[in-house]
Amino acid sequence: MSLKEYMQENRGRIDALLEKHINELPDTVDPKLKAAMRHGLLLGGKRVRPFLVFITGKLLGADEAVLEGPAAAIECIHAYSLIHDDLPAMDNDVLRRGQPTVHKAFGEAMGILAGDALQTLGFEILANHPFPERLLPNKVRMLQELGEASGYRGMCGGQALDLEAEGHKVDLEGLLRVHRHKTGALIRCAVRMGALASEYLNDAVMKYLTEYSEAIGLAFQIHDDILDVTSSTEVLGKTAHSDENLEKSTFPALLGLEGAKEYERKVYDKAISAVSSLRPALGRIRMKDPSIVPFTSLRDDALLLCEFAEYIVTRGY
Ligand code: IPE
Ligand code: IPE
Ligand code: MG
Ligand code: MG
Ligand code: MG
Repeated sequence: MSLKEYMQENRGRIDALLEKHINELPDTVDPKLKAAMRHGLLLGGKRVRPFLVFITGKLLGADEAVLEGPAAAIECIHAYSLIHDDLPAMDNDVLRRGQPTVHKAFGEAMGILAGDALQTLGFEILANHPFPERLLPNKVRMLQELGEASGYRGMCGGQALDLEAEGHKVDLEGLLRVHRHKTGALIRCAVRMGALASEYLNDAVMKYLTEYSEAIGLAFQIHDDILDVTSSTEVLGKTAHSDENLEKSTFPALLGLEGAKEYERKVYDKAISAVSSLRPALGRIRMKDPSIVPFTSLRDDALLLCEFAEYIVTRGY
């Protein structure tokens, strides 16, 4: 099975899971709020973060049923971040995933509330998700990590830096800070929560997985910046050249398009070298428990992390 097929399969699974959570909202919930939440959560999306939860977890022999909790939770947080990112007070975008943005379809107040509600739903899903007794301390760690990655130390903090950096040039160090926070934090958290679902996790594995996640998280936003310049609204499903119009601080704006691509390649190389460091530590876990089934019997599954890094920097949308 190719990476693309795996991603597709996983997308179907996560979509069904999210749909179930939305359908379970009680009838007493305001119908407009529910519709706005559904719109922001279920209409499209690549489901990159839940995919990362699944592949890292499965790499370490974690139970798929356990992984569903953090996978659904992080996508709720991500969906909320996009709804708020599009608000008039932020990026003021009218198109997302080929659809009108939530505030465009339901009004600004509902956009704010749907975002708030999806944020808390994410924490609710994870907190209520059944975990085996021995992994309960890791569930608490996941909740801590998700809180840190979402809030002032993570995504929200990065969004504030992003807005502050509009209209003037920040240096490379400043731009790295924006990207690592606004986008990197949740991607890092996805990988670490996947790892925390495994009882075989050790410090070395966590260290190299974290290095990997930080590299692909940064690469993900650099590529998003590049696509804003090089792609079209039709392909992206969101308005192209939106960054230029808002005078955002981005990699192409700072380094030029070629410079941005070159930098992205360097970050990709870092992700690959983190996977190389990870391999021996992973091998030791496998020796301890040979019953861990590889994600795919067709290939070395650490390779899947490399293929995913490649996907991040070559994707067309
Ligand atoms: C878009 O995220 C916002 C960024 C952090 C760059 P995605 O590119 O993952 O958006 P969806 O979920 O696939 O729509
Ligand atoms: C968004 O960055 C990061 C978030 C935390 C949502 P962008 O503003 O570049 O994302 P898009 O391009 O609107 O998806
Ligand atoms: Mg933004
Ligand atoms: Mg935006
Ligand atoms: Mg963007």
